[in-house]
Amino acid sequence: MLDKSKRQINYLRLSITDHCNLRCQYCIPEKNTDFYNNCDLLSSDEIEKIVKAFSLIGIKKVRITGGEPLIRKDFQKILKKINNTQGIEKIAITTNGFKLLENLDIFKESGLNRINISLDSLKPHRYREITRGGDFNKIFETIKKAASKGFEKIRLNVVIMKGINDDEILDFVNLTKELDIGVRFIEIMPIGEGKKFTPIKNSDILSFIQKNYCLEKNSNSSTDGPASYYKVPGFLGEIGFISPLSNRFCDSCNRVRVTSNGFLKLCLHYDKGIDLLPYLKDNTSIEELASIIKEAIYNIKPKEHHMDNSENVENIESKGMNKIGG
Ligand code: GTP
Ligand code: 5AD
Ligand code: SF4
Repeated sequence: MLDKSKRQINYLRLSITDHCNLRCQYCIPEKNTDFYNNCDLLSSDEIEKIVKAFSLIGIKKVRITGGEPLIRKDFQKILKKINNTQGIEKIAITTNGFKLLENLDIFKESGLNRINISLDSLKPHRYREITRGGDFNKIFETIKKAASKGFEKIRLNVVIMKGINDDEILDFVNLTKELDIGVRFIEIMPIGEGKKFTPIKNSDILSFIQKNYCLEKNSNSSTDGPASYYKVPGFLGEIGFISPLSNRFCDSCNRVRVTSNGFLKLCLHYDKGIDLLPYLKDNTSIEELASIIKEAIYNIKPKEHHMDNSENVENIESKGMNKIGG
């Protein structure tokens, strides 16, 4: 479907939990207790109904997000239900790699096409500090194994923070020499705990890399999202840049979000949307739900974010990234 700004909306980011096994410093406060109760999270049947309704309005790709989506014990059941939904052509996940190593084959068989893995440092000690407890060696093994399993390109999400991990940029680029993965540098957004960190512009990161490598634009890379991709000639993988602050990509936004408690969220930066829960609990048909969703997207989806200047803007999102799903 087209929204009011004539953008083709064909991509759903579905958060299935706000819980996480980690506490990344820019995402969840160390002593956070503000998580939804498990009984308030969408059930796998409710998720199935939501995805069926979204497929009727033209959603073709579902990215499962969190918190950490793999923390849900019924993840595979959810995956299968989405995979069995007519019209859904691609299923992706954004994960910190938790419990992925032991489940790669089974998730592939159940319909998972793409995996994005969060990894902000290649130094085990620093990784543990940033994530407040993560095991670098296990996640790195997961990445290497995942890259050999025939998924569509495995992509790493690297959130660069000034003074924290900006000395590792070339190490991340070098990772693409032998591994056929995409390493994406992400500008940290001033959302939730992210406000406490200083972003670095991706244009500065690109210039820094170009002092060391002649990059070529990788126009072959499949991009249904906001990243732009480059390659070091001769390297197997690619590097990407997601620049929500310095290069706003709202004009080409193709996505909407559903939070893990059933709120249809129409832009990352705003709390504008509608609660779908009442329509899941009663006997609203999938067709009726689809038309409610369609109307909400058309009428409420904002034209653009205002992260650079949000002081006097209404309805700015106040929830943390784990409740939004990124
Ligand atoms: P694909 O396009 O499916 O490859 O996914 P993606 O790269 O958008 O998804 P992922 O979950 O890996 O997110 C990577 C980064 O992009 C995270 O920091 C997200 O918060 C950010 N992001 C994703 N969608 C949007 C968006 O609509 N607006 C903004 N500002 N940031 C986004
Ligand atoms: N800015 C940019 N990216 C963020 N993520 C979490 N918080 C932020 C933020 N404030 C990233 C995570 C994960 C993805 C879902 O979003 O690292 O890869
Ligand atoms: Fe968990 Fe991802 Fe947030 Fe880190 S960024 S605390 S892995 S949800």
